[in-house]
Amino acid sequence: MTQTEAGFQPAGPANLALGKSEVRTVAGREMLVARGQDGIYYAVASQCSHAALSLEGGRIRGTSVVCPHHGARFCLKTGKVLGPPAHEGIVAYPTRVEENEVMIWPL
Ligand code: FES
Repeated sequence: MTQTEAGFQPAGPANLALGKSEVRTVAGREMLVARGQDGIYYAVASQCSHAALSLEGGRIRGTSVVCPHHGARFCLKTGKVLGPPAHEGIVAYPTRVEENEVMIWPL
């Protein structure tokens, strides 16, 4: 399916410092909205695939997030696992910034 303009939902202000993140609710789903060290905003599922705990407070390393519970690392761009103990990736949502607002496609 082609992404249309209507698919992006407002997800709060683009006010995160580099390497910071916070959990925001978009279209009824909790997501981890993060600003990578590259300055780009990303959004991934807020729940870690290892033990279903929250990624909130996880350290941002480059363009990845490290789960604060057991250290699994996920790519913020793709949601793929980059480090154990998780085996499965998490959902990564299309994200962009429009007029200082983070916009996320909740899929
Ligand atoms: S809950 Fe995230 S690594 Fe265990």
